Amino acid sequence: MTSPIPAPELILGVVGAGLMGRGIAQVAAEAGIQVILTDQSPEAVAEALQFCADMLRRKATKGTLSLAEAEAAIGRIVAAGVGSGTAFAGFSACDVVIEAVAESLDVKHRVMDCLEAVVRDDCVLATNTSSLSVTAIAAKARRPQRIAGFHFFNPVPLMRLVEVIGGARTDEDALVRLTALANRMGHLPVRATDTPGFLVNHAGRGFGTEALRIASEGIASFADIDRVMTDSAGFRMGPFELFDLTGLDVSSLVMESIYRQYYDEPRYRPNALTTQRVAAGLYGRKSGGGFYTYRDGKAEKPAELSVAPVEGAPAVWVSGRFPDVAGDLRDRLARAGATVETTPRPSDEAVIMLTPFGEDTTTASLAEGLDPTRSVAVDCLLGLDRRRTLMRTPVTKPAVLFTAQALLAADGTPVTVIHDSPGFIAQRIVACIVNIGADIAQQRIGAPEDINRATEIALGYPRGSLRFGDELGPRRILDILAACHAFYGDPRYRASPWLKRRAMLGVPLTTPEG
Ligand code: NAI
Repeated sequence: MTSPIPAPELILGVVGAGLMGRGIAQVAAEAGIQVILTDQSPEAVAEALQFCADMLRRKATKGTLSLAEAEAAIGRIVAAGVGSGTAFAGFSACDVVIEAVAESLDVKHRVMDCLEAVVRDDCVLATNTSSLSVTAIAAKARRPQRIAGFHFFNPVPLMRLVEVIGGARTDEDALVRLTALANRMGHLPVRATDTPGFLVNHAGRGFGTEALRIASEGIASFADIDRVMTDSAGFRMGPFELFDLTGLDVSSLVMESIYRQYYDEPRYRPNALTTQRVAAGLYGRKSGGGFYTYRDGKAEKPAELSVAPVEGAPAVWVSGRFPDVAGDLRDRLARAGATVETTPRPSDEAVIMLTPFGEDTTTASLAEGLDPTRSVAVDCLLGLDRRRTLMRTPVTKPAVLFTAQALLAADGTPVTVIHDSPGFIAQRIVACIVNIGADIAQQRIGAPEDINRATEIALGYPRGSLRFGDELGPRRILDILAACHAFYGDPRYRASPWLKRRAMLGVPLTTPEG
């Protein structure tokens, strides 16, 4: 006996059978929704139907769907007529239409115009735009109140999050219906206001742009920045690996567009490094080379230098300015064979180890009246288990640096040595991510929990932007930003009011406004 397949009570139109349109069609059909698919190109529709059928049958082969379910889902996707006259045949029956055509305001206006001529008045018209304003797309419509953003991520079947975006004139009813549709499709809906980058692409600004800034300042190599962000901060990919995967031609356009749309907001400022690399055709994997060179699909990364073992029992003094991290560092150094000094001031021979938050080694050393030629700094924000970042002043003696590196590497943990930097690598990138997440909450673009879920699911961050801040401590994040701001004088590092107030009050960043 075969189980009855529920009658499809919802009809979804999909315009644009490219990468996104076909993914949306597949997921909707799998959820029992009848789909009518159209595209200006008959080949695109034919390819999309074949693609959806292949994907659904593959799922049946893997056992995630029964063959009957896969065949039923395939049967639920039908092509509308193609070509100019018949393109929207059948769309009068649609309850919702999602357009996923080319990212051009003109093209979107034309498609909305054609749709309004055929759909019922109660049909919701959704746009999958990732960078255009939903309000602008709806501006010329007869009924702009039924037009909303419904922003999926690539690949749609795997990225189970969708942004539901109300434009200036969108009715709440359209948003409620899209939220219900998202749930039915097995996607997590998050509400976002119609602002540049919406929620997800806005939240993603800190990671790449701050990494570019660190690289362009000569603090560390691309590979070192990637290693620190994956090993120490727990990101699945480093920022430069991600640029290479996405394609710098695409990423740089997004960076420029969001920056300009926010009237040159310094927090989102892109970097001259990318313009030049795009001009050189160094897009990433797709062009065979980007920040890394690719051979047989594998990135060629410079090997990490090995360190000579520790000799004798060198004297080390660790600053007690941050007692919550100093103790752990002292214990590890003692286990590595160091003679750890416990006096209030270092002896004349000791390697001086600082554990600053937001300050560079030079500033931290001088602030405590220490000798900068014997000072190094260790990043303790994210723990010392998987990788250690060691930083020097411009005048740190080579012998001091070698000793510090050897001690930190003695238990086999990799050590990344970098030039002086306020906030090392991970501290400043994570602080920028948290700060931008906080400002998204401040601007009421999305709810705090949605900001966390969106960054975890759609950006794959190890923790949501605000959750990251709460785990590390809002006060500490504020201190890192304040120190970067003081050092550079760059408003890029000014703290969001949302972060500032919650840090001062000692409450979590997810605390909503009262
Ligand atoms: P695509 O280039 O793969 O597909 C676009 C399809 O639209 C093509 O098949 C094209 O023939 C068709 N098309 C263009 N003009 C048309 C018209 N006037 N009438 C009917 N069909 C038309 O593009 P992709 O990547 O699927 O993007 C579609 C939309 O989704 C864009 O707005 C894009 O910004 C957005 N988006 C893309 C993501 C991605 O990662 N590719 C992620 C999220 C959103």
